[in-house]
Amino acid sequence: MTTKNHQKVVLVGDGAVGSSYAYSMMNQGIAEEFVIVDVIKERTEGDALDLEDAQVFTAPKKVYSGDYSDAKDADVVVITAGAPQKPGETRLDLVNKNLKILSSIVKPIVDSGFDGIFVVAANPVDILTYATWKFSGFPKEKVIGSGTSLDTARLRVALAKKIDVDPRDVNAYIMGEHGDSEFAAFDEASVAGKPLKTIAKEKGISDDDLAKIEDDTRNKAYEIINRKGATFYGVATCLMRITRAILRDENAVLPIGAALNGEYGLNDIFIGTPAIVNASGLAGVVELPLSAKEKDLMAKSAETLKKVTADGLA
Ligand code: NAD
Ligand code: LAC
Repeated sequence: MTTKNHQKVVLVGDGAVGSSYAYSMMNQGIAEEFVIVDVIKERTEGDALDLEDAQVFTAPKKVYSGDYSDAKDADVVVITAGAPQKPGETRLDLVNKNLKILSSIVKPIVDSGFDGIFVVAANPVDILTYATWKFSGFPKEKVIGSGTSLDTARLRVALAKKIDVDPRDVNAYIMGEHGDSEFAAFDEASVAGKPLKTIAKEKGISDDDLAKIEDDTRNKAYEIINRKGATFYGVATCLMRITRAILRDENAVLPIGAALNGEYGLNDIFIGTPAIVNASGLAGVVELPLSAKEKDLMAKSAETLKKVTADGLA
């Protein structure tokens, strides 16, 4: 019997997002064993052959085309399988199509004996994360959605441009649905501990300017899809960051789609919030002290998700 003494990730869905994630993982030297699964077997074989050539310049890795049984001893399974939006479609429009695909994936993975952490990115991601938890029967802490990680990255990039600092130094979050009902938690945002609202006042940035940044962030995916048909590099990097936090047991505070247990007055939902991520998956939600207006936006966003979840999983 062989025992595994290294870290293993299984990617399900080798499309634009999945293959970009694989490349990002390769470049960062994360996980010694990386398995790619897709209904299009030829693509996963081709990608594995292509990616293995990168290891000469990155780190030694076993990267190969596999199947669900390979999840048996994996630490993380990342799900990016599912239809993407066409121009004009919302993420929520994908729910029926992608729930069907998801249900065909989660069961064989669980049947393999997989006991690691699920990370879900296929859209509508908050609903699909909830469904992964339901279909798998796993504890909530072992199911993580990419949630508002990409939206938060977009917000930080936009704020960084506006106030002229490195986006890595902007501490700001997009909360709620990864989608049209999300909102920017500006009241808690800061740079080096200095409130964003104070910085905005000093720099002559008005509330309207901030509202435009929030709006542009919410609509950035549509802008990208209209131009190049899909978004993938941004989310792929977010997925790499989440995977790294799990595999390296980092206790990293990241914006993810987390299961709530009374935080923000919400239960029975996976939704975008900062949370602590480590080897056990979700180690705890970091509940921001939202203003009354923001709490209301969070409740409305949750309501939108709960309605679609109830309809989709009925
Ligand atoms: P894509 O069409 O390029 O790739 C989807 C892949 O899934 C294809 O390779 C397809 O063969 C595969 N697939 C379909 N059914 C499958 C099944 N049953 N088992 C295994 N593989 C299967 O799409 P994409 O651009 O890579 O987007 C993938 C998903 O990620 C979409 O739902 C998209 O909306 C979502 N997405 C999420 C975020 C986020 O922030 N969470 C960002 C971008 C895209
Ligand atoms: C995004 C995808 C489409 O880029 O969810 O936000």
